[in-house]
Amino acid sequence: MVAKRLHLPPLLPSDKACGLSVRRGKTEGSTMNTVGVGLLGFGNVGSSVYEITRQRFGVSTSDSSALEVKKILVRDPTRARSIALPRHLATTDPAELLTDPGVQIVVELLGWSGHEPEPALDLLRRALKAGKHVVTANKRLLAEHGRELCRMAVDSRVSVWFEASVCGALPVIRTISESLVAPRVTSLHAILNGTTNFILTRMSRGKIGFDQALCEAQSRGLAEADASWDISGHDAACKLCILAALLTGVGARPSHVLTHGISDVQADDVHLAEALGYSVKLVSSLHMEGEVLHLRVRPTLVPHTHILARVEDAANAVVINTDLARQYVLMGEGAGGYPTACAVIADIIGAAHSLSSASMPRAQMLLAQSRDTTTSGWPKAREVERLHYLRSASHTLDALRSEAHVLLKQVSRGQRFAAIIGPITTSGLHDVLAAHSIKEAVSLPVLDDGRYV
Ligand SMILES: NC(=O)c1ccc[n+]([C@@H]2O[C@H](COP(=O)([O-])OP(=O)(O)OC[C@H]3O[C@@H](n4cnc5c(N)ncnc54)[C@H](OP(=O)(O)O)[C@@H]3O)[C@@H](O)[C@H]2O)c1
Repeated sequence: MVAKRLHLPPLLPSDKACGLSVRRGKTEGSTMNTVGVGLLGFGNVGSSVYEITRQRFGVSTSDSSALEVKKILVRDPTRARSIALPRHLATTDPAELLTDPGVQIVVELLGWSGHEPEPALDLLRRALKAGKHVVTANKRLLAEHGRELCRMAVDSRVSVWFEASVCGALPVIRTISESLVAPRVTSLHAILNGTTNFILTRMSRGKIGFDQALCEAQSRGLAEADASWDISGHDAACKLCILAALLTGVGARPSHVLTHGISDVQADDVHLAEALGYSVKLVSSLHMEGEVLHLRVRPTLVPHTHILARVEDAANAVVINTDLARQYVLMGEGAGGYPTACAVIADIIGAAHSLSSASMPRAQMLLAQSRDTTTSGWPKAREVERLHYLRSASHTLDALRSEAHVLLKQVSRGQRFAAIIGPITTSGLHDVLAAHSIKEAVSLPVLDDGRYV
């Protein structure tokens, strides 16, 4: 994704007041005028953070100092960028940043490489050991190692902030950890990946196939050249694990999430679903069954009347159902350089407050205290009756007419046929299909609030 250079309007007086409260802290007996920030990464998000910091919170825009980016770690300082890299701050040596006493907050925006040792993990461990406060947007890192890093930070008496790791600009981490304290979550349904939501929206509105919609997402900078992590649903699964830990105290791993991506969703399915009154979305869901937690990421038919059906293009949304306060809904920009940078900057300001108050964010404490599930088994999901979408040949659906209790709605478009079936368990559906010798059928789950798990 490419961040375009932005000329931001100057700070409002109230914004300056926010900056001022950051500036006055004591460190080793001297008055601290600046909060030193070390940026790990100057890509889409890192360069946007730098630009916003410089224009709205930087030394050059205020009468006295505020946030100051002291060093920036990159792989290749010479490569062309849409936002110019300040060469005097750039380094390829992480030690320059981690050993600089002027850097109090380390902001990790490298991403996940998949190489051992994982650079982001290695550098954050070193930063925490060195007593730096940490801000990160790295969902994979948090889903796999968040508990360990937050515990290390508690031991080192520093703070870890990670608002930008889930849903970009949406304050979902803060809302869950700080506001949703009294009610208990019963279920969560969310659109956590903007790339896949854009593709599905384009397939529906633009009447184009998956491959063309993916190319469009890439040409608009909404998908990486290698978009497999998004398309496969694994990006959403990592985010769901972070939310689950905060909401339920269970430190689930991405491998615990039943995950299906959208690459098999055909344009036919999107259009037939629309005709049946549904939109196809990649829905991440959390469901509590007693004390048992179920986590799923699947392409799902969402009724047009449901709030998630109205989430279009690259937007994200989270719907949380609770016992005491019914429903919480957050919707907005879930990705992109500047929206994500807004969440990162809010975290930097939070970390700057922690410098003088020695406080730690509640989200960090929740993640640190989440239950380790690496050694315990993960419970198998119990089968429940729910609705299913089924696409198959016309004569196969005709055969299902005799099963009046399962065939709820049907539609045909030319030679294409689809139906909503249920409530029935998945194995019950397979039995019905087998009984009618229906071999070639496409099925997808249907979100039907009471019954979708
Ligand atoms: N983009 C979004 O919309 C979005 C939204 C939410 C969260 N996030 C998260 O934010 C983080 C950053 O995303 P991004 O889109 O900004 O990534 P990006 O554009 O790929 O930028 C990565 C930056 O990290 C640097 N880098 C990577 N590995 C390095 C290493 N081993 N040593 C030194 N520098 C290294 C790169 O250096 P070079 O510039 O020299 O290549 C580049 O500046 C990721 O964790 C991502 O998941 C992104």
